[in-house]
Amino acid sequence: CGICGVTGLRHATPIVFEGLRRLEYRGYDSAGIATLVDGKISRRRAAGKLDNLGLLLEEKPLAGTTGIGHTRWATHGAPTTSNAHPHGTDRVAIVHNGIIENFETLRHELEAEGVVFETETDSETIARLIDLYLSQGHTPKESVLKSLKRLEGAYAIAVIFAEHDGLMIGACHSAPLAVGYGDDEMFLGSDSLALAPLTRRITYMQDGDCVVITPAGAQFMTFDGEPVEREEKIAALTSGAIGKDGYQHFMEKELHEHPLVIGQTLQRMIDPATRQVVLPELPCNLAEVPRAVMTACGSAFYAAMVGRFWLESVARLPVDIDIASELRYRDPPLTKGSLGLLISQSGETADTLAALRTLRQNSAHILSVLNVEHSTMARESDAVLGTAAGPEISVASTKAFTAQLTVLACLTIAVARSRGMLDAAGEEELVTALLDLPSRAADALAQADAIRSMARIIADASNVLYLGRGSMFPVAMEGALKLKEISYIHAEAYAAGEMKHGPISLIDNTVPIVASAPFTPLFDKTLSNLQEAKARGGRLLVFTDTKGAERVSAIAEQMVVLPHVHDFTAPVVQTIPVQMLAYEVAVLRGTDVDQPRNLAKSVTVE
Ligand code: G6P
Repeated sequence: CGICGVTGLRHATPIVFEGLRRLEYRGYDSAGIATLVDGKISRRRAAGKLDNLGLLLEEKPLAGTTGIGHTRWATHGAPTTSNAHPHGTDRVAIVHNGIIENFETLRHELEAEGVVFETETDSETIARLIDLYLSQGHTPKESVLKSLKRLEGAYAIAVIFAEHDGLMIGACHSAPLAVGYGDDEMFLGSDSLALAPLTRRITYMQDGDCVVITPAGAQFMTFDGEPVEREEKIAALTSGAIGKDGYQHFMEKELHEHPLVIGQTLQRMIDPATRQVVLPELPCNLAEVPRAVMTACGSAFYAAMVGRFWLESVARLPVDIDIASELRYRDPPLTKGSLGLLISQSGETADTLAALRTLRQNSAHILSVLNVEHSTMARESDAVLGTAAGPEISVASTKAFTAQLTVLACLTIAVARSRGMLDAAGEEELVTALLDLPSRAADALAQADAIRSMARIIADASNVLYLGRGSMFPVAMEGALKLKEISYIHAEAYAAGEMKHGPISLIDNTVPIVASAPFTPLFDKTLSNLQEAKARGGRLLVFTDTKGAERVSAIAEQMVVLPHVHDFTAPVVQTIPVQMLAYEVAVLRGTDVDQPRNLAKSVTVE
């Protein structure tokens, strides 16, 4: 969910609305704004995309110079108008990002006192609690501080109060919130991106901070009301608008940016003079790291899986890997001095951020591979390796994924060199393969017609099986996830060799099998597995390369032939067509490609 608030002299609604537009990547199930009009709280809320709220505001404008807004990714309670934020009473309105874990207890307690709830949300509890204290004669600040003491869970909130024009209170615990400074106006936002067009002067709040804001400035304090000093920083973000550049969807545009972003990312990491990988300063000596722990969510996790494959096979570094929401609670015994390696496009995903904090508590060195370099994770890491993918707007990640792979490939080379696993000739060979990637990525994009023809078969299916072995297994997983996310077709990815131990029973001619089978050392093994599927009536749609094409053509119903590249870089090239396939299927099925149902680009709750 995303939060934006303002108090000053200007009309609040358009400022907050534009802030929400920049926060839509955090959810788009519903949205709402509350302002103070003649001292009274006034709200407009709408289910669905932010545009619905825009239409409502055209019909029923909202005046006022103090306002808060929210764009929601539903947790407790369906994405309806009544569950949309801001929540409130006649006395108070709040917006909330996070989850109040003890909301049922608090709700029962409040109901026992005669409080009547209007929604199913955990967030309404915060509003009702503050309202109760206000009704008992406490000031707004006292009421918020008393309420904060009662809340368990993770949250960032912004609050406004009837009869207190020019007052806004914010607080956060395990969820980010930023204060922005203007001229005679002040802002609150989930991140600096929300505030980018408004101001570059920002204070990132710390865990357990409360802030009282008026147009003249901000006072920071602990939840006990003890004043604290917080530093003002200059955010480097600009407010440049991002367009589709003539493409039908952002996803299509971003797919076409693969060659560019791979090239830009390589430029940051490879010295053209020496053709050696040169990384920025790292939090530890790579030669001495006993093992790495990799963690991420969604697509980024599949990038991590490829990274593990490389770090283990090329650099001989032992790697543990887990999805972030599992790692956090698994309580694994960590080897002292381990390298915690986090991967995230947004740097705001709550699960990954929590895993980062868990790793830090276990005294790991924290190195993050991030696309948004001013994100919360960037601030909490010891060092960041940036992916130069530029803003990624489509919810389904494409170019950020190949940029992550590019960074992980460079990191692998650096680790391998420092551990004595790669001599100069070996490094030269891998760097040459990497430098070849932008043009090989362009070759992959040129296969659009063949991919569209595969898409027609998939578009009619209800289930699809993706297969791959070795470094192609995560590629298969990325393909299946992308298909699920944007076309709503069920897809499952399996290690091709494992298929015979279960999913083979699903195979008939209604379940297309998408295989990633370039000519790597595992090509023969993969082909045997595909033969097993074909023998049972499976329809094979295979991504291969020029060296594998002849043998694949003997068994596949359709194939897409990509250029043959080094084994090391094959997963990067092979990722592009599986993402394109998902895109083409989604277009054929007419889904909302860039903002698929139920998803958010970055999920900022646990
Ligand atoms: C969400 C998105 C996924 C994305 C994941 C991780 O669940 O829907 O597409 O891969 O978050 O996002 P991150 O920003 O951490 O890479």
